[in-house]
Amino acid sequence: METNRPHIGQGNGAPRQEFSVAEAGVSVATNGEESGVAFCDGRYVPVAEARISVLDWGFARNDTTYDVVHVWKGSFFRLEDHLDRFERSCGLMRLDPGLEREALREVLMECVRRSGLRDAYVKLACTRGQPAPGSRDPRTCRNTFFAFAIPFVWIIPPERQERGIHLILSSIPRIPPASVDPTAKNFHWGDLNRGLFEAQERGGDTVALSDLDGNVSEGPGFNVFRVQGGRVTTPEGTVLGGITRRTVEELCAELGVGFEYGTVSADSLREADEAFLSSTAGGVIPVTRIDDRILSNGAPGPLTTRVRDLYWRKHDEGWHGTPVDY
Ligand SMILES: Cc1ncc(COP(=O)(O)O)c(C=O)c1O
Repeated sequence: METNRPHIGQGNGAPRQEFSVAEAGVSVATNGEESGVAFCDGRYVPVAEARISVLDWGFARNDTTYDVVHVWKGSFFRLEDHLDRFERSCGLMRLDPGLEREALREVLMECVRRSGLRDAYVKLACTRGQPAPGSRDPRTCRNTFFAFAIPFVWIIPPERQERGIHLILSSIPRIPPASVDPTAKNFHWGDLNRGLFEAQERGGDTVALSDLDGNVSEGPGFNVFRVQGGRVTTPEGTVLGGITRRTVEELCAELGVGFEYGTVSADSLREADEAFLSSTAGGVIPVTRIDDRILSNGAPGPLTTRVRDLYWRKHDEGWHGTPVDY
């Protein structure tokens, strides 16, 4: 079933327009707010109306786990892998979304269905919730679950990706795994956000943080890859197990390119033949400058380009896809 696709509105001050997503009974606000549909407090609402309490520790303590899966041309990409990771993250953080696997899947489907979006950024999250009045005991918190589908988000716009981006290597260490397990996707973004400010001040597009030994870790929303002598290496140990990173590993296997998890020093990345990033929110992103060093003559490298092209070509072919029944 086709539904009306909501459009982004005309910005603040413009008359509020409502595009009714007919069959779903949801109106999507388009007065400059993000369009899309959320599931919050057990109900489907326009994303601009989704709310959590200021007393929720998900907000007050950054005590949240989440996942982000994308929909491309009407199909979820690697939906079950994202649900696996979300359930694992919940277990590691002692959070209970209160929904079984089947229900989680259905909520995500329904958010996309009601939004009518063909290319979407779909987030699901479980927060610690609110403790009993006057209590600081996390065991008294009632965990909450929310999800939403909004138009696809690019951490780097595709036209910017074509030229390759300028990555800043920050000396800010990523919060160590002994403190916060990076494999449970979490809201501890204080270090990553500091890094983003630093990147902007230094004229870069985005930033990669280091581990406590000064080796490359990960960045705000992406894993990092070094290409040297035709082999691809990506850091492990202090990073999220990116679903796109796993996808890159599969693509490298298909292309007959060597791939390994290992240590990537900052200097070896600056001096690499090529470098790229991977993220649900943008795919395979070529890096052509690291700090003041130009890579692969300032154009996306040949191996990066092969991996990136194959990533999008296989998307178009429905690879790892779960179609949305709109
Ligand atoms: C800290 C961090 N590392 C890596 C990634 C990449 O993971 P994925 O490929 O699953 O999007 C993300 C995604 O948001 C992230 O937040």
